Amino acid sequence: MSKKVVVVYHSGFGHTARQAEHVFNGAASVAGVEALRVSVDAVDAHWDDLAAADAIIFGAPTYMGSVSAQFKEFMDKSSKVWFGQGWKDKLAAGFTNSASQSGDKLNSLVQLMVFSAQHSMLWVSLGLMPGNNSSAGSVEDLNRIGGYAGAMAQSNADQGAEAMQASDLKTAEHLGRRVAEAVLRLG
Ligand SMILES: Cc1cc2nc3c(=O)[nH]c(=O)nc-3n(C[C@H](O)[C@H](O)[C@H](O)COP(=O)(O)O)c2cc1C
Repeated sequence: MSKKVVVVYHSGFGHTARQAEHVFNGAASVAGVEALRVSVDAVDAHWDDLAAADAIIFGAPTYMGSVSAQFKEFMDKSSKVWFGQGWKDKLAAGFTNSASQSGDKLNSLVQLMVFSAQHSMLWVSLGLMPGNNSSAGSVEDLNRIGGYAGAMAQSNADQGAEAMQASDLKTAEHLGRRVAEAVLRLG
């Protein structure tokens, strides 16, 4: 039976949705893993999928230095699952996107890590060395933002999702693949 990875995300203007699509593609590229992508707008139809998942990857844009209110609403709704510790020992990981290079994205990933800990989940880090941090580096480097806790993407405030950096999307794919491979290793 194949393992299941669910990507749950919110996106107000499409950027984080594109990042989520790439996280999903990375997970789906691993043989033996079935991936599903769920917007928090539609999550009420997917609580059973989350219950059946071996891993859940959480994604939100960074708004005002933390996850978007819509994603927080999903977090709060998940307290029903928390009561029974329904997600205990599932793998968890996270990604976020914002307009500024930093934009306080780390705070959103920390928020997602703490959230996963409240659910007694096992957090999977990004697993990439930082890119674009030397004279030999460039924005084309994987993990160009240099995060460790999860996948970060930076999207210019005056451009749509189609203009997102290819390296950020590849970094997102890497995270999805890494979580899927970790799920298989756990057996
Ligand atoms: C209400 C609001 C708050 C924002 N706060 C931040 C922020 O704290 N840091 C930042 O870098 N960008 C911030 N942004 C910019 C968004 O993170 C950025 O436009 C992002 O690409 C939006 O992702 P989305 O298209 O998935 O909604 C904010 C945008 C909005 C609408």
